[in-house]
Formats: sequence, structure tokens, C-alpha cells
Amino acid sequence: MGYADIYAKWKADPDGFWLDAAGTIDWDRKPTRGLNDDRAPLYEWFTDSMVNTCWNAVDRHVLAGRGAQPAIIHDSPVTGTKHVITYAELQDRVARLAGALQAKGIAKGDRVIIYMPMVPEALEAMLACARIGAIHSVVFGGFAAAELAVRIDDCTPKAIIAASCGIEPSRVVHYKPLLDGAIDMATHKPDFCVIFQREQEVAKLVEGRDHDWHGFQFGAEPADCLPVEGNHPAYILYTSGTTGAPKGVVRPTGGHLVALNWTMRAIYDCGPGDVFWAASDVGWVVGHSYICYGPLIAGCTTIVYEGKPVGTPDAGAFWRVMQEHRVKSFFTAPTALRAIKRDDPEGKLVADYDLSGLKALYLAGERADPDTILWAQRHLKVPVVDHWWQTETGYAIAANPLGIEALPVKIGSPSVAMPGFDVQVLDEGGHQVSSGTLGAIAIKLPLPPGTLPTLWNAEERFRKSYLTHFPGYYETGDAGYVDGDGYLYIMARTDDVINVAGHRLSTGAMEEVLASHRDVAECAVIGVADDLKGQSPLGFLCLNKGTNRAHADVVKECVALMRDRIGPVADFKRAVVVDRLPKTRSGKILRATMVKIADGQTWKMPATIDDPAILDEITVALQSLGLAKP
Ligand code: COA
Ligand code: AMP
Repeated sequence: MGYADIYAKWKADPDGFWLDAAGTIDWDRKPTRGLNDDRAPLYEWFTDSMVNTCWNAVDRHVLAGRGAQPAIIHDSPVTGTKHVITYAELQDRVARLAGALQAKGIAKGDRVIIYMPMVPEALEAMLACARIGAIHSVVFGGFAAAELAVRIDDCTPKAIIAASCGIEPSRVVHYKPLLDGAIDMATHKPDFCVIFQREQEVAKLVEGRDHDWHGFQFGAEPADCLPVEGNHPAYILYTSGTTGAPKGVVRPTGGHLVALNWTMRAIYDCGPGDVFWAASDVGWVVGHSYICYGPLIAGCTTIVYEGKPVGTPDAGAFWRVMQEHRVKSFFTAPTALRAIKRDDPEGKLVADYDLSGLKALYLAGERADPDTILWAQRHLKVPVVDHWWQTETGYAIAANPLGIEALPVKIGSPSVAMPGFDVQVLDEGGHQVSSGTLGAIAIKLPLPPGTLPTLWNAEERFRKSYLTHFPGYYETGDAGYVDGDGYLYIMARTDDVINVAGHRLSTGAMEEVLASHRDVAECAVIGVADDLKGQSPLGFLCLNKGTNRAHADVVKECVALMRDRIGPVADFKRAVVVDRLPKTRSGKILRATMVKIADGQTWKMPATIDDPAILDEITVALQSLGLAKP
């Protein structure tokens, strides 16, 4: 069957489609029902089933005789090490860690925060939680202590599993002091911490609270897999919303297993024994779905890469990993390819490696610009699949499903809606617009298995953020259009979220940080176009009356404040002092117009502007930074 038939089959009988897909998962109690709409418009899937994620990702492959197959390959150019863990070893390691957690009182439903760099132990910690029904929440290492503290207070973990340090090419990231600082700042305190001591930096442990990773597990009884209900939360992953408070996306266990396994075959064309590599980080949704769970559920070998696309040691790093480990499917963010293209525009380093094992390249996380796609097609000589998804969905909403059928490629489009997703483009009134017309992209409810059923501890926020604006639909927060062939084009966000190097960031959260500076009366943050990172944050600061401090000093302090409060991942390096901000008569800051001016695009004077002259001042300020070029 081709894509059109499969999509039609899903549309005709969604329950039948997903129950059929559920046949590829080992259940302790098989689901008899797909969708549970008892609380519509809140939906859940497979609620009458019992299942365990770790069993499906690890144990069943050992039982099937593939214990000797590599499950995880850790390739770490930043430490100069490589390490293979087979499925049988993974089972032992995870069962023992799970047993130790259990012995320390971690039970089904308890939350465990994981704060670790790209080491296999991060995946082991995730799987150990899944094994005993604990709910993990992984926090990206590039966040500052304050962001970690917010997450600690929101999900109130009983334990935190962390590493002593992470390694960036330019520096060692001191995880442990960040963790200690976060615990000090947070109101909630975990019962205990488990620290994976790396040889690059051995951290000081807090007596009575912190346990060394190895000592903690010594002599522990391995834990069995505990079956949980299909709608039991597998994990919480925080993502940026419009305000400073991150949203805790909840991932349900049963749907997650079914949907990820379906995508591994249908989209990535990978199965048992294939080597799958997502060059992202376990702290992001891509890392959850396609470094850890997806490949392991499907019985593939997954690569945990602790390095960068360039500089570790050069722009050939990705190709080296692909050759050495015979990668079949590769997934990265367009930013990473732009970084490689910048260092090696002619793709000369590609020719140094044997990439005959590579069958396809997948891009997501931000808009894939045509130049980058064409460069990759030319040099890698494999299909380049742009696919569109979000933390909330956990897998692709739109893609070119190579495992089903390679559809014609339209550059600039992540292709077509996947089964499960009825994607529609709506006008402000919630009416579908004609093809080719720009509008808000929404998905007709219910969403498919594995997508978020709610936000952690915030059902009202879930309804307000996603379900209220267009009743009957999930609002994606993206704007774009569909062409006459059903191909989607994702053009921009409709909210204050920006995308920096494939990282989703909230300008609202950054504004809260700037506003807390004692000299700042008012501020705005926008995302301006950036050749490498897609977008780059830029702050506008209006200072308190009577402040006579040098502008450069205030800007410098604001940059430091952002790094301290949100973290290096915010990549906030530029701000400019202005007298006033452009606003509508009702007081709304005209950020979209400021973005257009900064990017040198044509723009129209907003009809609702309070004082048009302010835009001239903004233009001059932007020009002082080398922006707003006509
Ligand atoms: N822990 C601590 N700090 C981190 C970090 C981590 N896990 N990851 C990144 N950082 C830091 C970086 O060191 C950098 O700090 P600096 O300001 O001191 O230089 C800052 O956060 C910004 O990082 P990044 O945006 O990654 O920029 P970079 O200049 O270090 O690297 C690229 C540029 C293009 C190589 C890099 O952005 C990249 O690989 N992007 C791919 C993105 C990706 O995989 N996204 C996931 C979604 S699929
Ligand atoms: P995240 O939740 O961090 O995965 O970010 C999701 C957001 O990234 C989406 O809502 C889009 O704005 C953007 N995004 C992800 N993939 C794509 C893509 N292929 N094309 C355009 N934008 C994308």
C-alpha cells in the first residue's frame, strides 16, 4: 500500500489503524480499545492496557536472541572515547539501576529528574525509570540553575540523577554546582541524588543526599519490568511557551510505544539491527524519541554522539561517525548542516568517507532552508527528508514516509500529513482557508497516540494554550499553508516562541529576565534572522528615568544575567538601548514589525501604531548593530 491508501485507511478507521499498529508491541494486557474520549476534548489512548516501555525497548530484544547486538554506541570526540553496549549489557545495567532506585523508595508514579550530558548513562537512567513506572523528566545541560529549579518545583522529583560534568569543546560544564544551586533555589527538595562521576571532573558529593552512581548500585537486586496502564505518564519534558514558566509536556506510555515503533518503519525505514543516529541531545524531544526510545523499541542500534558537527575535530565529524558505525538513517537539525556547509562549502570532507551505508537524511527542529537541502542532496546523494514536529507531538506530524513510499520532494515543504494527523489551515475565525492561503496550522482533534494528553499539573493551561482558540482543534502555534497537492509549508510561529539553532526558546521568558535588571524599565526580545542558527535573540532595553549609566555596561550585565538565569542555550548576546518601544494604541509591543525591519524585509506601517516615529528610532538602533539593511 502506498501513502495515500494508508492515510485513507487511518482516516476511515483511526481506532482500527492504531490497534493494528499496537500489534507490534508486547503488552501485559492488550488494549481492546484505542481512543478513550470519555473526557473530550481531552483524549487518551489504550487506557485499558498494561505495558512496560523498558521491556519493549530492551528485554524483548534479548529474549528474541539479539542480546549480543549493540544497543548503544557512545561516540565521544570530546573525550576521545568510544564504547559499545549490547542489548544484554543494557538489560543488566538498567535492571540494576532500577533495582537500586526501587530499594531507595522510588515507586511507580514518582518523578525523577535526569540532568546529564550525552552519555549512555542518561539513556540508562531514562530506561531504569521506565522499568519501574517512575516518571522521568530530563533537563537539557545548557540550562542554568534557575531553569532547573523551576522544573524541580514543578514536577517535585523524589530523586535527581545527574552527571558531575558535561563537556563542551570550549569548556567543562560544571553540572554539579549547577545542580546544587538549583536545589538550593527550589522550594521542593529531592530525597536523594545519584551522581555519575566523570573522570574529567569528579564532583564533591553532599553527604547524606548524594550517592555515587556505582556505589549506589553496588549489590542492588535487579528490578523486573513493572507493567503500567497505557495512559500512565512515561515522562514529562518541559518546553518553552509564551511565558517564563515552561510547559511540562506529558508523554503517555502506551501511545508512545505504538507511535514511535510505527514511525521507525514507516518514516525512517529502520528495523532490528539497523543503525539509527539522531545527532541531537537527550534533553530535547528528538533525543527522547530518536536517540533513546524509538530506535531501541524497534531493536536498532542507536548512537549517542557527544560532539559537535564542526570543531570536534572538523566538519567531517558526522561523516566519520556514519562510516565507522555504518549508519543507515541519520537525523539532525538544519543548523548543524549549515555549520558544516560554512566550514566545508564544497563538501570536500564528505568524499573522505565511505557513506555507502547511509540511506536517508532527516531534518527537523526548524525550517530547512532550500540551500541547505540542496547542499546535502548534492554531497550525500541520498534522499533528504524535511519533517515537521513538536515536543508536544513527540514525532512527525508531516513527513515524506520513505518506509512506505518515497513521495516526490518539494523543497521548502516537510511534505504531507502523517496518518493520525488531520492538518488544516485556519483563518482567525477558525474556518479552513483555500490551498495556498496562509493561516494558522491546526490539527483536528483527537490527536493520535503518543501525543500530549495534557500538561503536567496544568490542565487549564493545556486547554488554554492548545484547545480554546480553535474549538475542536489542537493549535500548533505554527503558521503556514497547504498547496494543491496537500504538501504543507511551515512559515512562522504565531506566538512569541523563537527557534535558535533548532532550540525552542521563549522571548517572553527572556523579557522576564531583562525586566528584572534594576535599570531596565521596559524591554522586548525578538528573533532576528541568522545565517547559521536560523534565528538569534535580540533585546531592546528602555532604561529607568534618571539612569545615567553607560549603555554598554547595562547591555553587558543583561547578557550575563540571561546566561545566569536561562543559560548558555539562550545564546543571548545582543541588546540595544532605545528610548521607547513601538506599540499599538492598546499598548501591545509591535514585535513582528521590529523583526521585519531588523531582517531588512519590506514592512507596512501598522494601522494601529501609536507613534510611527518610534519605528525610525528603532531602525537607527538596529542599524547601529549592522541590522535593518534594506
Ligand atoms: N550543555 C551546556 N552548554 C551547552 C550545551 C550543553 N549540552 N549545548 C550547548 N551549550 C552551550 C554552548 O557551549 C554555547 O555556549 P557559549 O555561548 O559559551 O559558546 C551555547 O550553549 C550555545 O550553543 P549552540 O547553540 O549549540 O551553539 P554553538 O556555537 O556551540 O554550536 C552549532 C553551533 C551549529 C554547532 C550547534 O548549534 C548545533 O550543533 N546545533 C544543532 C542543534 C540541535 O541538534 N538541535 C536539537 C533539535 S533537533
Ligand atoms: P520543538 O518543540 O522544540 O521540537 O519545536 C517545535 C517547533 O519547531 C515547531 O512548532 C516549528 O515551529 C519548528 N519546527 C520543527 N520542525 C520544523 C520543520 N521541519 N520546518 C519548520 N519548522 C519546524
